[in-house]
Amino acid sequence: MNVVLGITGGIAAYKAPDLVRRLRERGAEVQIVMTSSAEEFVTRTALQAVSGKPIRSNLWDKEAEAAMSHIELARWADMVLIAPATAEVMARIVSGGAPDLLTTICLATEAPIALAPAMNHVMWSNPATQSNREVLEERGIHIIGPEVGSQACGETGAGRMLKTDLIAATVFNLTGGKGEGLLEGRTVVVTAGPTREAIDPVRYITNRSSGKMGYAIASAAAAQGASVILVSGPVNVSEPPGIDMVNVESAEEMYAATHEAISDADIFIAAAAVADYRPTDILQQKIKKNNEGMSLELVRCPDILASVAALDAPPFTVGFAAETENVIRYARSKLEKKKLDMIVANRVGRDCGFDYDENTANALWCDGEKAFPKSSKVDLARKLIELVAEHFYAVSASETQPKLTIISNND
Ligand code: CTP
Repeated sequence: MNVVLGITGGIAAYKAPDLVRRLRERGAEVQIVMTSSAEEFVTRTALQAVSGKPIRSNLWDKEAEAAMSHIELARWADMVLIAPATAEVMARIVSGGAPDLLTTICLATEAPIALAPAMNHVMWSNPATQSNREVLEERGIHIIGPEVGSQACGETGAGRMLKTDLIAATVFNLTGGKGEGLLEGRTVVVTAGPTREAIDPVRYITNRSSGKMGYAIASAAAAQGASVILVSGPVNVSEPPGIDMVNVESAEEMYAATHEAISDADIFIAAAAVADYRPTDILQQKIKKNNEGMSLELVRCPDILASVAALDAPPFTVGFAAETENVIRYARSKLEKKKLDMIVANRVGRDCGFDYDENTANALWCDGEKAFPKSSKVDLARKLIELVAEHFYAVSASETQPKLTIISNND
């Protein structure tokens, strides 16, 4: 895939060399086009070293134009990605102005355009920027992020550029579906995040799952060309583009939504950390602290994973096992007890698992296993999907009606 990577003048430009590496790791050819203000934040030398190509920036550079004109560059691109995208470049693209090489390419290309905005949160929420975002989206330009978090200016809010590996995964996702993906034409249902089990109108029982692993799995499956339905508990992760979202709260809602989505699924991946128990009764009024102690009566929640694996014609089913000890032994017993095709085991604890961006894992199946060393959840998800696809097709080859289900609570 040929990516024109536009870099504009925001502090997040310092992450651009890493973004180039993430894109190239996935096999992209990257041609960088930077604006003059981007040069205040990141050097040409670093960008040229990681991209392996001379940097373009000047529309009037006769030598560069002779080698590949801006129109040829616009045609060469399979995707134009601008990261970071400032409020200024968003406004300029909306206006149709083309005072520099990058905006000229945006006007001249027929390739999809994606912007990863990065700016101060007040600038992002400014009505002018929001109205520009709306116009860009109406025109089919993809807006990736931004995410909420602490910013370079010391404030906290929405405006931080999305993580580079997530941007790279999303770009491949957006340009996927060209007949080359491992899961082309397949439907994958993924559950992700925690569930919330209400106690009274203001309180609930939940767990530390962030949803990151499940969302990365959903993106990785979509990047391999699958149609993905993501059934998600409440999380703070941006919705991946190109995926059908079903948002739920409780285990019972997740059970119902999953079974509604599963009928045509080839693969089911349960990455959610579903509550095992919920309060027997949800009180209509807030509980008052009238006594020194109190106890809650709990009942078992339905096991979504086991119920899918027990269907008459189950999809290829993959579960996740988050354990604090005896990781492999407990995971293998879950694989057998729930009759899964595969289980992904990982250790969770103070310094790993839930809410961390990196993870290690072991995938287990009836007569084998594979260890995945520590890597980002996005990379791990990509490798897991490749493994799942490989096993899915192996099972499919021996069945007339192949189905694939992946299940996890690994995030
Ligand atoms: N799962 C599910 N529905 C539930 C509970 C778990 O679908 N009600 C799925 C998770 O998404 C995950 C796998 O089951 O894929 C986890 O297996 P489980 O045996 O439930 O793990 P734990 O809840 O951690 O079990 P235990 O507490 O006994 O270790």
